[in-house]
Amino acid sequence: MKKLTGNINVGVFISGRGTNLKELIKYSKKNNTNWKIKLVISNKKSAKGLLFAKKNKIPYLAIEKERKAFEKKSINYLNKNKIQLLCLAGFMRILSKSFIDKCKFKIINIHPSLLPKYKGLDTHKRAIEAKDKYAGSTVHYVNAKLDSGKIIIQRKIKILKKDSPATLAKRVLKIEHQIYPNALDLVCSKLV
Ligand code: GRF
Repeated sequence: MKKLTGNINVGVFISGRGTNLKELIKYSKKNNTNWKIKLVISNKKSAKGLLFAKKNKIPYLAIEKERKAFEKKSINYLNKNKIQLLCLAGFMRILSKSFIDKCKFKIINIHPSLLPKYKGLDTHKRAIEAKDKYAGSTVHYVNAKLDSGKIIIQRKIKILKKDSPATLAKRVLKIEHQIYPNALDLVCSKLV
């Protein structure tokens, strides 16, 4: 793969509250990383995460359209803003193979389970019901199959007897906020 020079322009897709986006912004500022978030796109106008982009003067937009139109418009914005890595952070939509193929950059995602276990939704409930000892989070490359690309970083935590899906989600979210920036450091160190 062709190596990149200078800072890596990162785009982020969100759909909701955007706490992972917030932590990525915070980390990249604090640590003066070689990656910078340059564009945030949401498929929901109401996504709270857009406010973090606004507050940090990062260009952002909401494209509330069905998948095909969303992908067409967003790829134009990604290219216009010279995005070199796309991060999905609570982006609640499956990207089409054609979108993924058109992207000339890597796409990564964070998922709240120990993949390959529990792809898709309700991961914490499923882990508790299966009486698993551990839950966790995984950052992985995105390919055309849901939550199935190569794993970049994974971290686990113990499931406590008293855990409900909500309490477990809260603790997993905390580790997500640590591993997503670390995964970006790792991925970007390979890109330059
Ligand atoms: C995270 O748990 C992430 O793993 C999943 O969606 C959640 C997003 O949370 N894909 P937030 O919007 O970043 O707060």
